[in-house]
Amino acid sequence: MPGSAIGQSVIFLSSTPPEVDTDLLVLPVVEGEPVSQTITGLDTVTGGAVARALSSREIQGKPYEFFLTPVLQGWRATRVALVGCGRAGDLNLERLRRVATAAGLAAKQRRVGRVAFVHRVPEGVQLPAAGAVQAIAEGLILAAFNNDRYKSEDRSTPGPDQMLVVAAPGLSTSQELERAVERGRVLGESSNIARDLCNEPANVLTPSVLATRAEQIASEVGLGIEVLDEDEIARLRMGLLLGVARGSAEPPRVIVLRHEPAGAPATPVLGLVGKGITFDTGGISIKPAEGMDRMKDDMAGGAAVICAMRAIAALKAPIRVVGVVPAAENMPGGRAIKPGDVLTGASGKTVEVLNTDAEGRLILGDGLWYAQRLGATHLVDIATLTGACVVALGKAASGLFGRPDSWVEAIRRIAANTGDRAWPMPLYEEYSEQMRSEIADMVNTGGRPAGACTAAAFLKEFTGDLPWAHLDVAGTAWADDAKPWQIKGATGIAVRALAELALNSETWK
Ligand code: BES
Ligand code: MN
Ligand code: ZN
Repeated sequence: MPGSAIGQSVIFLSSTPPEVDTDLLVLPVVEGEPVSQTITGLDTVTGGAVARALSSREIQGKPYEFFLTPVLQGWRATRVALVGCGRAGDLNLERLRRVATAAGLAAKQRRVGRVAFVHRVPEGVQLPAAGAVQAIAEGLILAAFNNDRYKSEDRSTPGPDQMLVVAAPGLSTSQELERAVERGRVLGESSNIARDLCNEPANVLTPSVLATRAEQIASEVGLGIEVLDEDEIARLRMGLLLGVARGSAEPPRVIVLRHEPAGAPATPVLGLVGKGITFDTGGISIKPAEGMDRMKDDMAGGAAVICAMRAIAALKAPIRVVGVVPAAENMPGGRAIKPGDVLTGASGKTVEVLNTDAEGRLILGDGLWYAQRLGATHLVDIATLTGACVVALGKAASGLFGRPDSWVEAIRRIAANTGDRAWPMPLYEEYSEQMRSEIADMVNTGGRPAGACTAAAFLKEFTGDLPWAHLDVAGTAWADDAKPWQIKGATGIAVRALAELALNSETWK
């Protein structure tokens, strides 16, 4: 595997700005901050450049602003950069992570060899030191990601070969901050692996290749893995998954990952279920050509589950977790399901397929059933499920559904900090009524009104009485435009949120 996703190192250093030996020392600053006074010595060692840039308003501390100047004397770094964080009151972990990525991308563009990002706490900012250095480490690792695997020339650099997160002695114990940076490294790296899987074209990443990649990942971190082939899937009577897969020459798979740490309590068992459609043509209800190429990332939910499981194992989460990824290709082949067909899922529920393009909910129905059979006590599913969710929330947040409210809220709160914003959406009884069928238990589409909500109402039927949350990441899994803090393409959505959910089970109540 090319080194675009893993292998970058980032380490913690307890030190002060004058002492750090690096090619680029990055100092985050907030809006309106008189930096030439608040950062001792900065103005002198840069020959007055910082004061000049402040008075000309070249630097104001606005979000992602970047100002680079040489160090003329006095400090060990050869250059410093100021990076804007916006207003002190807006500086949270999500912003800090993005600022670190923006600085990392700027360093990569300038082909800087060694970069050091200083965690400092400007006046009016309140951030827990461990969370902050973790977010910085994640941001720097995210910046090192490239999507140019298939370019035969003009490939970008892998980014700096040494990355440091620096904090002054006394902010917290070095040991705690070292661990936090390591946690950030693993989470950033796991996010990048998910991005890599999503960016892979569908001719390369078929359901069986996705399963093979999951096996490689599992063996690296010591996760239990089992891959169900089409015969085992048939034996389990997963008729919804088999129905979706019928139109393709590629056989379906169910990828099952298990994290069972020694000494973990019997419950809770977190069940993560991810949509693994490696390409979604729409099937017989075929999609228009425009933009269909993007449907190679219709396995983003599955990638999030696989890569969150990687982080959960690497970081030794103290609870049991099971990951289930039903994987298939949605194609309009000669044996494909047709509108009006009725399928029976493993749970026994029958579904009248009105639209073969509403395939994600079908495979998740069997996936959610299987996660329960494997003993899950708490469910989260994640899927690029509906265009309607993109209409509702745009690319600013994933749709978040589920019950009870306390379970949904636990996930919302964690996701806000990991940079995987998700916003609560309703599950009114009306949406379930919209999914009634004349001839079967349910239809698979309730028409245009509330399309994201009716899809969630469909999934609810497969969750028993368990606490369950559903993340619709159709809008957030893919970046259409580059931002200062994000390149185009797969985002690695929710890898960090799902992993942190398992790492913070004491906050679930
Ligand atoms: N994978 C798509 C949803 C999607 C749309 C993801 C845009 C990312 C961007 C899903 O399988 C789908 O096709 N959903 C249909 C459902 C409809 C037929 C009820 C949709 O949203 O149009
Ligand atoms: Mn579809
Ligand atoms: Zn789909």
